[in-house]
Amino acid sequence: MKKIIVIPGDGIGQEITASAVKVLKQVDAKFNIGLEYDYRDAGGTSYEKFGTPLTDEALDACKKADGVLFGAVGGKKWDSLPVNLRPERAIFGLRKGLGLFANLRPTKVYPELVNSSPLKPELVAGSDLLIVRELVGGIYFGKRCESEFVDGVEQAWDTEIYSVPEIERITKLAFETAKVRRGKVTSVDKANVLAASRLWRKVVVDVAKDFSDVELNHLYVDNAAMQLVLNPKQFDVIVTNNIFGDILSDEAAVIGGSIGLMPSASIGELTSLYEPIHGSAPDIAGKGIANPMGTILSAAMLLRYSLKLEDAARAIESAVEKTLADGWRTADIFTDGFKRVGTDEVTEIIYKNL
Ligand code: IPM
Ligand code: MG
Repeated sequence: MKKIIVIPGDGIGQEITASAVKVLKQVDAKFNIGLEYDYRDAGGTSYEKFGTPLTDEALDACKKADGVLFGAVGGKKWDSLPVNLRPERAIFGLRKGLGLFANLRPTKVYPELVNSSPLKPELVAGSDLLIVRELVGGIYFGKRCESEFVDGVEQAWDTEIYSVPEIERITKLAFETAKVRRGKVTSVDKANVLAASRLWRKVVVDVAKDFSDVELNHLYVDNAAMQLVLNPKQFDVIVTNNIFGDILSDEAAVIGGSIGLMPSASIGELTSLYEPIHGSAPDIAGKGIANPMGTILSAAMLLRYSLKLEDAARAIESAVEKTLADGWRTADIFTDGFKRVGTDEVTEIIYKNL
């Protein structure tokens, strides 16, 4: 048996993870995988029950599992809580606790949705890129000071810090991933200004020596942001630090037309975690209109990366692609001339397409 911890979280997290589990069960029956599910809370839902956004028990359960399927956390209701009790804390607790050092965010432009992209169709058609973001280091976890006074003037600071092993680990993963894609890595940094970026670039160049079959280039982050909208097709794998990856992955996500479609994998030392990249969307929670595709495609990534079941992963991806090709659209990607469906209906259609 393979144990999956499902963490629905808050808002639409509940509905979209239910859809993904339904699809996983069907794939399981078809490929004889033997999946077992166990549920845990996180975010506001966990705070309401246990007074904390992530319990040690939930984290321990994840550590022992074969994979974690995560919905989303957050909501207005909990916005005024102290920082260490806010739902987003659950995300950092899982990232650090599971050592989720690499965040993989693919952006694929489906031919059927090329007109939903904010960019010109001819520019984005055929784009297929993967951002590999370092997730447990850099300025997110460096020393910081919320407030101090120097000569009577208040200031605050954060630190961007990377060690050689941290950079090596994420770079190797990026190169290995590029090898089974189109063999190109773009490393994004700000080496013209930042010391941590200069070390980043030096280590990337060193690691690249072991991957002679992969092409490497470097871009400064400002230029990379521009190139993403000028010519997204030039990219295969982008590897970058925590904060640049955060920013560029939101930019890349919309190129495909809808953030509701975008899955992600966070690769860990022990267990890896899979989640859609959109949030908990409290405004539409419980209305049955959320797009479950990002979560369903995240479940496909779980099969691919944690269970090494490429065929089963492809089966889910093909079922989603067929659903789009047949004209079925949830509200977020609906345009005139297509067939509008809700969360349950679209799940049912994907399920039948398997
Ligand atoms: C993401 C999110 C998080 C991040 C937030 C919610 C803390 O934006 O996963 O990209 O900045 O990492
Ligand atoms: Mg982000």
